[in-house]
Amino acid sequence: MMNCLGSLPRQHLLHRLHAIQQQHRHISPQAMQQTAAEFNIPLSQVAAVVEFYSFFSTQPRGRFDLLLSNCTSCGYRAGGENLLELLCQQLQAVPGKTRADGLVSIGETSCIGMCDHGPSMLINDSPVTGLNAARLTQIAQLIADEIPVPQWPAAWFEMSDTVHRRDLLLSNLLIPGNALRQALQQGASETLAVIRQSGLRGRGGAGFDTGKKWQFCREAPGNAHYVVCNADEGEPGTFKDRYLLREYADALFEGMTLSAFVIGAQQGFVYLRGEYRYLLPHLQAELNHRRKLGLLGANILGQAGFDFDIAIVVGAGAYICGEESALIESLEGKPGIPRIRPPFPVTHGYWGQPTVVNNVETFIAAAQIALHGASWFKASGTASSAGSKLLSISGDCQRSGIYEYPFGVTIRQVLNDCGAADAQAVQIGGPAGVLLGPAEFNRGIAFEDVATGGSVLVFGQQRDLLAIHRNFAQFFAHESCGFCTPCRIGTQLLKNSLDNIAAGRGSPNDLEELRQLGQIVQHQSHCGLGHTATNHVLDGLRQFPQVFSNRLQSQFTARFDLDQALADARQVTRRDDAAAHLDNE
Ligand SMILES: Cc1cc2nc3c(=O)[nH]c(=O)nc-3n(C[C@H](O)[C@H](O)[C@H](O)COP(=O)(O)O)c2cc1C
Ligand code: SF4
Repeated sequence: MMNCLGSLPRQHLLHRLHAIQQQHRHISPQAMQQTAAEFNIPLSQVAAVVEFYSFFSTQPRGRFDLLLSNCTSCGYRAGGENLLELLCQQLQAVPGKTRADGLVSIGETSCIGMCDHGPSMLINDSPVTGLNAARLTQIAQLIADEIPVPQWPAAWFEMSDTVHRRDLLLSNLLIPGNALRQALQQGASETLAVIRQSGLRGRGGAGFDTGKKWQFCREAPGNAHYVVCNADEGEPGTFKDRYLLREYADALFEGMTLSAFVIGAQQGFVYLRGEYRYLLPHLQAELNHRRKLGLLGANILGQAGFDFDIAIVVGAGAYICGEESALIESLEGKPGIPRIRPPFPVTHGYWGQPTVVNNVETFIAAAQIALHGASWFKASGTASSAGSKLLSISGDCQRSGIYEYPFGVTIRQVLNDCGAADAQAVQIGGPAGVLLGPAEFNRGIAFEDVATGGSVLVFGQQRDLLAIHRNFAQFFAHESCGFCTPCRIGTQLLKNSLDNIAAGRGSPNDLEELRQLGQIVQHQSHCGLGHTATNHVLDGLRQFPQVFSNRLQSQFTARFDLDQALADARQVTRRDDAAAHLDNE
C-alpha cells in the first residue's frame, strides 16, 4: 500500500524488514538501501531500526536459527546441564555465531514465554519445549541431516496450556458480539460510565485506572483516535497473555472494539511480541471470523458510522517495546526508544493522535464488565483492586501454569496452591518486580500491596539467589535501550559487580557500591525499565544480605586479574616463564 508520495508508509517498515529477514536470513546493506528508497526515508533511519531490534540481523543467520531461552524458570529445569553448550558441541557451532557453512546459528534470547514448559527454544520462530540432553541430540541429528523443521515430530511443537484456577474472566465465556450489543444499546457515555464505576485498573503492571484512560482519550482532540493492545509480554516469567491470545482472542478483540466505540477510534493495533509470531495465523483467522460476523469493519452490528478494524504488528525482540511510548514508536516503524512523558499517549500517541494502550487482560476484563456490569466486577477483589488477576506461575513448584485469583489473595495461598510450600523466596512481577522472602508471604496480590503484571517466579531452598540476580542483571543490561546514561551504564556496572562477587572477587565495599548504584539507576533513569531494573538487587541486599556477603573476600582483592588478562599474550609470545609474572618478580 503506497502513500500519496508513491512510497510505502513508515509504519510498514517493521513488517517489510521482517519479510526481508525471513527470506534472506539477514538484512544486507543493499536491502537496507532498497528499503530506504521504497519508504523514502534516509538509509541511516533504516539502519537504526535494523540495529535496534535483536530479531533483525546484518549477518546471515543459519538456515536453522536456534534461540534458547535463558529465563531463570526454564533454564533451571535443564537438570544442571548447560543446554546451549551441549547443542553447540553437537553441531560444532559457536554461541552467537552462524556456522561457516550457513547451516545453523545458535544463540540465547530472553524469556520466550514458555516458562511453564521447561527448557525451551525458538527454531525458525517456532517454539520447541521440554528440552533435555536426549531431545537436543535428536534435534542436532535432524539439523545435520538438513530435515526441514515442518517435518520434525509434530509433538515437539504442541503446546498445552495448564490452567489450575479459573475465576471471573476465565470461567465466563463471552459470546462474540454480546458485550458490543449491550454497549450499543447503552450508548458510548453510559458504557464508559460502567467501566469507570467498575474500578478496572490496567493489568499490564502499572495499574492505571482504565475508565479514566478511556475518558481522557475520548475527550482529547485529534484527527483520529487509536486503540492499541499491548501484547508484548516481555517480562520474564509471564505467559498469561500467550494463553489469552490462544484461547480468548475473540474476547480481546471484543474489548478493543468496545474501547473504539467509547473513544471514537476507527483503527486498532495488536502489538504482538516477535517471540509469539507463531500465534499470528490463529489471530488473523479470529479477526477474519469477526469481520464475517459484522463485528469488525464498516457499520459494526448494523450501527451506521461505527467503523473499526484491527491490524496486527509483530515486534522484533526488544523488551523495552512493552513500555507504551516505546511500543508506539515501534508501531510507527522506528526504534523503540521511550518518549518523554508527558504528554501521554491518551493525548499524543500513535502519530501524535489520542491513543488508548491497554494490556490483553485489561481489554478482556473491559468486555466482560460491559456485559455483566460494574457491580458484578467489583464484587470480587479488594476495595482498591476490583476483580481478578491472572498469574503465570513457574520455577520451583510442582504445578506451574496459569492461575486466576480474586485480588487480595495471599502469596502464601498462591504458593500452597502451586505446590511450593517451602519456597525460600518469590519474585513477583518478574525481574522488574519485587523479591519477597517468607516473612512477607502473608502479603496480598493487589495494587495497594504487591502489584504485578502476572509473573510469579518461585525459588526453592536449593536455588542460588546470586545466580538469579546475575541472570536478571544480565537481562536488564541487554535490554536497556541505551538512550539514557544512568540505565545504559548503570545496568552494565551492576552486572559486572555481581559477576565479580560471584567469582569470589568482591569485597564488603562492593555491597555499598551496589546499593548506591541501584539507587542511582532507579531514580535517575528516563523510563520504567531503568526505574525498576535494580529493584531485585536492592530487595536482595535488604532481605537476603548473606547471599552476597557469603561470597565476599574479607579483604580487598583486585578485581582485575592481570595474570588472567595476560594469559593469551604470554601463550602467543611463549613468555610464560616465572619472570613474566608480576607477583614473582
Ligand atoms: C520496560 C517496560 C515493559 C513493559 N512491558 C509491558 C508488557 O509487556 N505488557 C503490558 O501490558 N504492559 C507493559 N508495560 C506497561 C505499559 O507501559 C503500559 O503501562 C500498559 O501497556 C498499559 O496497559 P494497562 O493499563 O492495561 O496495564 C511495560 C512497561 C515498562 C516500563
Ligand atoms: S531507562 Fe533504560 S530503557 Fe529507559 S530510556 Fe533510559 S536507557 Fe532506555
